[in-house]
Amino acid sequence: MSVLAHTTTQESSETTTGWIHACPQHRLEPGIGLAVLLPDGHQVALFTTRDHHLYAVDNLDPHTGATVISRGIVGDRAGEPTVASPMLKHVFSLTTGQSLDTPDVRLNTWPVRVDGENVQIATTPHPTQNASDPAQSTTRAEQGTP
Ligand code: FES
Repeated sequence: MSVLAHTTTQESSETTTGWIHACPQHRLEPGIGLAVLLPDGHQVALFTTRDHHLYAVDNLDPHTGATVISRGIVGDRAGEPTVASPMLKHVFSLTTGQSLDTPDVRLNTWPVRVDGENVQIATTPHPTQNASDPAQSTTRAEQGTP
């Protein structure tokens, strides 16, 4: 699996969120994830489902620290689109990023849009109170305890 390179698209003046070109729409096959590298080093796993919905979640599996979610198995649980990590088979909702196995674990979800023939991903995730956000975890770890 390769991580797609990206080019920075023109930033919209109406919003502070930047968008990057992820890949042409025709590159995405239903159920086959694609890893996309954002300018800040985050990896995003991009999916399209058979009903042509686009989803983007963290590529980092919070259980193993491996960037493998894009290689996960897409399915659904009670109608909720999901991806199962290929490592330990933990299942996450593609719409919310929530782990359906571990209540306090979730993936960031990223806005996705189609611009002409191209799929674009926002450079910042949907806002969450995410305990497992790597950046927040790092900050807490760096602060240490007295
Ligand atoms: S830059 Fe990724 S497919 Fe064109």
